[in-house]
Amino acid sequence: MRLCWLSATMTMVRCDPRWTGPRRWWWWWFSAAVAAAGALISAGVSVGEAAAAGSPVTRIAFGSCANQSAPQPIWDSIIDFDPQVFIWMGNNIYGDKKRPFKLFGKERTIGPWKNAPRFYPSSEQEMELEYEKAKSIPGYSRLCQKAKVIGTWDDHDYGLNDAGKEFSAKVTNQRLHLDFLDEPRDSPRRKQEGVYGSYTFGPAGKQIKVIILDTRYHRDPMFSDGTILGTTQWSWLEKEMKGPATEITIIVSSIQVISNHTAAMAPLFYMEAWGRFPKESDRLFKLITESKRNGVFFISGDVHFGEISRYDCGSKYPLYDITSSGLTQAVEKVIPHAFHPLIRGIAWLTPATMRLMSSNCIYSSCTYGKPNFGAIEINWNEIPVKLKFEVRDVEGYPVAGVNVFLSELQVGNAKPAAVSSGEYQRHCSLEVNLPWIIRY
Ligand SMILES: *[C@@H]1O[C@H](CO)[C@@H](O)[C@H](O)[C@H]1NC(C)=O
Ligand SMILES: *[C@@H]1O[C@H](CO)[C@@H](O)[C@H](O)[C@H]1NC(C)=O
Repeated sequence: MRLCWLSATMTMVRCDPRWTGPRRWWWWWFSAAVAAAGALISAGVSVGEAAAAGSPVTRIAFGSCANQSAPQPIWDSIIDFDPQVFIWMGNNIYGDKKRPFKLFGKERTIGPWKNAPRFYPSSEQEMELEYEKAKSIPGYSRLCQKAKVIGTWDDHDYGLNDAGKEFSAKVTNQRLHLDFLDEPRDSPRRKQEGVYGSYTFGPAGKQIKVIILDTRYHRDPMFSDGTILGTTQWSWLEKEMKGPATEITIIVSSIQVISNHTAAMAPLFYMEAWGRFPKESDRLFKLITESKRNGVFFISGDVHFGEISRYDCGSKYPLYDITSSGLTQAVEKVIPHAFHPLIRGIAWLTPATMRLMSSNCIYSSCTYGKPNFGAIEINWNEIPVKLKFEVRDVEGYPVAGVNVFLSELQVGNAKPAAVSSGEYQRHCSLEVNLPWIIRY
């Protein structure tokens, strides 16, 4: 595979690190010249050709939560979807270790006399081995030959369940994560604190910017209402958002941006989400408004089910968050078969004000608790340009989906959502503002 491509934001030509040879410098200059002309070029065969050759990107797949020690049959369906770009949403491996639930004995992980944490980090060598295992999964390595693979991490590949900025192995694990993604040796992502970065695909007029966030490296403790991104990453994100316009901007967040399931489930369950840091999520929505950027939407993972949500009152146009989780890990897999209808019933009853309910869903809850991946299709030829967001099952069949015209995601085209006090509106009222009886 010989692939060079221009990253507009990093203003450099990046080559596949596997490609080294005597003519490397010649190629570098050749590539730089073409790149300077503002083109994306492909100097090789077949690999990622569409993404690199300057033709528009029309299919993007994404996924999260993949157990490297379990079978991963879903890659076949992802390959059948034929994405030009695949985005890892985190928990790309399960790198940390888990002690069993133990009430008595030496290492007690539950109960009032608990003396050992349930999760603990692996050594660097162990992490490396787990990454090797993940990378050699045949389906995944085939996908890597066909598509440009990019992504971020979440807690378990960061190295520890629910961990944030306090986690000491983050420097080492950043290197391992970027090695797994074949990030070039001289990439700025290797020199900064955190794995955030951005990519621009496609020719002028059909450009897609993918902004990858790091929700771990700088994250304050849960319940602090502190920061998720940290100062440096915020300034970087502001620059990215206010930079040159692109037709589409995908913001990649390992954790959900729009749904706030904790609001209805605490204190029974707490889930990580932007909603747990209300100041931080306000700031994100404000930035989208201030940047006047069109065509912005989110993709996320983490929760072990698939869901599409929409927030109409966060910015000047509806904001979508397509959640796909996981590639192997899914809520229904850890619960006996007989309870599956109950789980879906609870999901259906949970007052998730932002969830997109539609007849396109396989279950009436519009959540999907079996292994799944996310699929984004962009039809540039249709007028107006049409986007299709889907969650697909292990066979590749859609289990939740929505069609959106790109013209709906434009500043100025929004219907102002005026909600007077005392009224509750789907896709606008936050879960926390629901009356007590509905909320619980
Ligand atoms: C991953 O799969 C292996 C083999 O099936 C299993 O032993 C392990 O517990 C799984 N890990 C997680 C985090 O589910
Ligand atoms: C999300 O739910 C939590 C828990 O109820 C709450 O503290 C927080 O303010 C909510 N966030 C948003 C943005 O509604």
